[in-house]
Amino acid sequence: MSFSQTHLLGIEPLAAPEISTILDLSERYVYLNRSNMKHGDALAGLTQINMFFENSTRTQASFELAGKRLGADVMNMGMQASSIKKGETLIDTALTLNAMHPDLLVVRHPHSGAVDLLAQKVNCAVLNAGDGRHEHPTQALLDALTIRRAKGRLHRLSIAICGDIAHSRVARSNILLLHKMENRVRLIGPPTLMPSGISDFGVEVFEDMKEGLRDVDVVMMLRLQKERMDGGFIPSEREYYFRYGLDAEKLAYAKDDAIVMHPGPMNRGVEIDGEIADDINRSVIQDQVEMGVAVRMAAMDLLARNLRANRTREVMV
Ligand code: NCD
Repeated sequence: MSFSQTHLLGIEPLAAPEISTILDLSERYVYLNRSNMKHGDALAGLTQINMFFENSTRTQASFELAGKRLGADVMNMGMQASSIKKGETLIDTALTLNAMHPDLLVVRHPHSGAVDLLAQKVNCAVLNAGDGRHEHPTQALLDALTIRRAKGRLHRLSIAICGDIAHSRVARSNILLLHKMENRVRLIGPPTLMPSGISDFGVEVFEDMKEGLRDVDVVMMLRLQKERMDGGFIPSEREYYFRYGLDAEKLAYAKDDAIVMHPGPMNRGVEIDGEIADDINRSVIQDQVEMGVAVRMAAMDLLARNLRANRTREVMV
């Protein structure tokens, strides 16, 4: 098995075989999660702390469930109520928690790079649950597992990522992962929602949705991240839906068996038609949520193995 990381900070540092290792182990956890006895012991005796400085439903719930199913003691820090509100810095909070000997720290933060910085200050495994516009590695991994299961492979696929690319850590992590696994990535959206320097990403860029969706295998929609916008990026939500909202007419340009994805939370009627989102023949949005728990179990299991091995080595020298 190939996985040598001590943290999961992003997709960028991962090698293709490490991605496959996580996905293969996740398959075992998908199986466990569907059984009546959902308990494993990979994290028994370990303490997992979830620190979410931004709102989250799916990600926080699935990290919590993943830790509990594998036997960890899981604590959710209410960051709204913590001393951060009294002016304590992120690093002070991290050092305080570090003194309580956590083994796994799951962190979501509005600033790109904040989770990397924190990882340098603590001596446990840190998992990035989304930092600003930078990375959201477990989301890209759960998306990859969903694609691999639906399409039977994770290479030589044509994947369109559509909408608010500029503000999306989900898009960034997905682009990195899908390239490492040798897929073709297209980005579709208005120029105002494309990040600068997009030509360096090795992707094809389309302004027209129908043109961009032609013959793709996977259509990945993104939420309009209004909380990260500080100006008029789109004329109006109606106009945006007309041009970029995924409806049956636009989806007809993709392959007949193309799947539809969305990381959630969805703005129905803004970036996606509710009927498409609920169409069990096309949409894999609920599968993504299911895969999220399994992928987080696998990621924490692998990091815990390395953590234990490194600590044993430290004791020996
Ligand atoms: C994403 C996030 O927070 O980056 N959501 C998620 O983790 N499921 C995407 C989003 O908020 O639009």
